[in-house]
Amino acid sequence: MGQDNKIVIINGPNLNLLGKREPEHYGDKTLDEIRVVCDNVAREYSISIDFFQSNDESEIIDLIQSTAESHGIIINAGAYTHTSIAIHDALKTSKSPSIEVHLSNIHKREEFRHKSFLSNVVNGIIIGLSDHGYELAVHAMAKLMRISKKNG
Ligand code: DQA
Repeated sequence: MGQDNKIVIINGPNLNLLGKREPEHYGDKTLDEIRVVCDNVAREYSISIDFFQSNDESEIIDLIQSTAESHGIIINAGAYTHTSIAIHDALKTSKSPSIEVHLSNIHKREEFRHKSFLSNVVNGIIIGLSDHGYELAVHAMAKLMRISKKNG
């Protein structure tokens, strides 16, 4: 990799089950397949990806706290999106650029999914574009980090 350009992608609870979990909402790609696509996009920018999944709120908070301010955070906090003031606070304190991603359009679903505690502390939001949202988030994060494609 060129410089120390890194994006930390954090996936919350139950996202380890992608591929077999409610495909009508979350599509048929596994998290590992999504990781490979993110890696390939990031390589175009000489950015490295640290890709995590955790079912544990405190681990997610630790990851946010340990991300350097020069590194980007892409987060799909799963159901913690709708409940976690602690993840909200961690992102609010973080100086890293951040993007919230959801595979499904949470605003078209049950009312309890309409509220995100993260949306008002991140730079941007990509919602409802299935696994494609992750790919778009990597491109958008490169832009936020002011990193251009290496051959263009
Ligand atoms: C999700 C939406 C959340 O409401 C849900 O709890 C998830 C996945 C999404 O990517 O669409 O686990 O974050």
